[in-house]
Parts: sequence; C-alpha cells; structure tokens
Amino acid sequence: MMRTRPLKVALLGCGVVGSEVARIMTTHADDLTARIGAPVELAGVAVRRPSKVREGIDPALITTDATALLKRGDIDIAIEVIGGIEPARTLITTAFENGISVVSANKALLAQDGAALHAAAGAAGLDLYYEAAVAGAIPLVRPMRESLAGDKINRVMGIVNGTTNFILDKMDSTGAGYQEALDEATALGYAEADPTADVEGYDAAAKAAILAGIAFHTRVRLDDVYREGMTEVSAADFASAKRMGCTIKLLAILERAADGESVTARVHPAMIPLTHPLASVREAYNAVFVEAEAAGRLMFYGPGAGGSPTASAVLGDLVAVCRNKLAQATGPGESAYTQLPVSPMGDVVTRYHISLDVADKPGVLAQVATTFAEHGVSIDTVRQQGRQDGSGNEASLVVVTHRAPDAALSGTVEALRKLDTVRGVASIMRVEGE
Ligand code: NDP
Ligand code: HSE
Repeated sequence: MMRTRPLKVALLGCGVVGSEVARIMTTHADDLTARIGAPVELAGVAVRRPSKVREGIDPALITTDATALLKRGDIDIAIEVIGGIEPARTLITTAFENGISVVSANKALLAQDGAALHAAAGAAGLDLYYEAAVAGAIPLVRPMRESLAGDKINRVMGIVNGTTNFILDKMDSTGAGYQEALDEATALGYAEADPTADVEGYDAAAKAAILAGIAFHTRVRLDDVYREGMTEVSAADFASAKRMGCTIKLLAILERAADGESVTARVHPAMIPLTHPLASVREAYNAVFVEAEAAGRLMFYGPGAGGSPTASAVLGDLVAVCRNKLAQATGPGESAYTQLPVSPMGDVVTRYHISLDVADKPGVLAQVATTFAEHGVSIDTVRQQGRQDGSGNEASLVVVTHRAPDAALSGTVEALRKLDTVRGVASIMRVEGE
C-alpha cells in the first residue's frame, strides 16, 4: 500500500556531496518512491552562501538557518553533509530533539562524538546512519554492522582515504610531485575542506576509529588511533619500495590481539608487495580487507571519494531510514559491549624497512647489526650500496627486519641515530601485507 504523504528531507549542506544527493533525489524520485513505498521530498536545503547558483535546486528551498529548518515541524529525516564538528554536532542533536532521524557522511564528528550521538538517537527512538562516512561508495559499514553481526571480526586492513591514495598513486605511476597531485585531488572534489585532514592521516584515522568500533564491538575514539600522515613519503621511498618489489600505500590496520583481550588501531604509510591486491588500488579508489573467524577473508573495493559515489552511499542510507520510519522501527544502534582496551602502537608487531647513510669503513655493518640485536630485533635482509659524497666515503645501508614490537623497532632506530658511524636515517617505513 503506497503512503501518499511524502517523507520530508532536510538537506544540511549542498557542496560536493550534498549537490549530488539533491540531484539524485530529484532525478530518481519515482524509483525512490517505489523502493521506499512512499514519496520522498526535498523539503529544505541549508547552506552557508545562499546566493550561490545551485543547478537543479529550487531557490525557494535554500536557507541559511538550518536550525529553523529542523524545528519547523514537518521534517522526517535530516541529511548532514556539512562536515566538521560544529555546527554539524548541534544540528544533529537538534534533529534528534525534534524527532528527526539522521543520515550523515561526517566521519570526523562520528569518530569524536559517535557514542553521544548514538545515545541521543537511541534515547529518541531514531536512526543515525553513516555509510558514506567510511570509504565513499563502498558498502562497508552496513555489511560489517549487519551482515557480519553473527561472526567475529579479527582484523581489518585497507586503504580508506581517496585523496592520499590518489596522490601516492600519481607520485608512483607518473612521478608527479606531491603538491601537483594534491591540487588535482582537490579539484576533483576528493579532499576535505582542509586537506590537512587527508594528508596528515586524520581522515583515515577517523574512519579507522569508526570501523574498529564496529568490528570489535567496542568504543574506539580518534585519539585511540595511532596516526602518521603521508607528507614525508618521498620519491626516494618509492625507489626503495620498487627495489623490494613493493609500492607505498597509506593503510588503516585494526587488529584484535591474539588473546582477544585488547585491540589496536593505526594509520600510517607502509610498503606493500606489488603482488598484494591493495597494491593495485589506483587513484581515489579504496579497498578494505575484513578477516572474520567464520567468513574468512572478505575484500570490499570501490570509489572512496567524490560527490556522486558518496551520494550513492547517502541515498542508500536514506532509503533504509525511510523504510524504517514506515515500519515504525529503527536500524541497529551502537554496539560497544566488549569494552576492549586499545593498546598503544608500541605493542603492535610489524616490520621496518630502514635506510641508513653510514660511513663506509670496517666494522660499521657489525655495529649496526649489534644495535638491532641489542633491541631484540632480528634482521631479514641487508643491502649495502657504496656512494661517494663530498666529505669522504659513505654507503647506504638498507635493512629490512623480521616482525617485532613497534616499540623495539623504534628503540632500535633511536639507538642507530646515536652511532657515530650512522650519518643519518634516510627513511623508515613499515612493511605490511606479507
Ligand atoms: P563541501 O565543503 O563541498 O560542502 C559543505 C557544504 O556545507 C556546503 O554546501 C556549505 O555551504 C555547507 N555549509 C558549511 N557551513 C554551513 C553552515 N554553518 N550551515 C549550513 N551549511 C553549511 O563538503 P563535501 O560535500 O565534500 O563534504 C561534506 C561531508 O561529506 C563532510 O563530512 C565530508 O567529510 C564528507 N564526505 C565527503 C566526501 C567527498 O568525497 N567530498 C566523501 C565522503 C564523505 P556553501 O555551499 O554555501 O558553501
Ligand atoms: N577526503 C576523503 C577522502 C573523502 O579523500 O577519502 C572521502 O571520505
């Protein structure tokens, strides 16, 4: 039975993502109505700059007063695609106070205040959906929250930021400079309003926090995620990676400890073998491996950023929330019952690729090897290459370690820096995916 009163939607934000949400809502209105079982209507659009020309949007819908839009009494669902912490947080809270369910793409806010927002939605008997907050168009949040709800997820590893993957891919495949590639990613609508969030790893860390919370049924906040960005990755690092048959990706890695008593969450650049499926993830695509006890290894792949792909995820949530409303039900809320502690990065077991500039004289290799041994770190391979510089004979020493706790590896690097024979540490990169 088709309901005739339309479900009314307030669109909060009409930029890269919001404008595509509005376009698809308008052009696919009949299909959305058929799939939901009721018409769905764009009832208001809140923006910052009302005079900006917005193609396909009735100017009468535009307002700069998002709060008044949410309080006017006829809105069923709010789509928050403003981004950032405020005013997004206050607006979402206002929506819940006014009986309005929310769809959001805002990973920064969810990673910081997800628990409070889920609690507010739950207390009001409303939905908070956020598929678009992680990995753009890729269905990942709902498969992890719902399809895998009966399984036990032990590990998640993937590329969850489109902008940085785009930059690293361009640096690797075309030799493009960092700034040139970032400018292109920004022009294509992939980057955050402040692209520091992308290149310094904050955006990926926010997504890692959200995914870790879902995967391990525990609460993981942005501050719990170890984070390194990709601004230090150089052409020399790519050259080293190539010599090892690897490339470099910014990875998010979430792991349940072997004893099941704690979890770790980290984001950092890493070398991965060219034979690994993540190595072939190009441009702004994302890919995420989920390892679950019963299901085994699952891979999710697709466009990780951009207006239209992200709008697809938002619209999927909109349809789900509308269906819930008609059924007078709500979808799953936050599941954080395991309350597992998040261990520090020092406890993570990983491998390092270390490139040292050393004096090319007898005993140096032994001194370096002893330093690794003193820290309990076993060496996998060593490659020495002589080179002349103005100050005398020097060599490059490239050491790849076996797996060891990150604290032992970083302790080794600190000790190496203090050796007279080590002129400098040219690069340090973790190695993953083997
Ligand atoms: P944009 O900067 O392109 O758009 C932001 C929109 O919010 C603009 O329409 C802006 O208005 C509006 N806005 C800003 N401040 C206010 C305010 N105080 N009141 C009302 N409206 C306001 O961002 P994106 O569309 O790129 O991103 C939106 C959200 O989606 C963010 O949370 C982002 O992290 C997330 N996201 C983005 C993806 C992408 O590829 N771009 C992918 C996945 C998620 P005006 O138009 O007048 O400036
Ligand atoms: N800036 C984000 C990225 C948008 O590049 O991945 C998608 O979340």
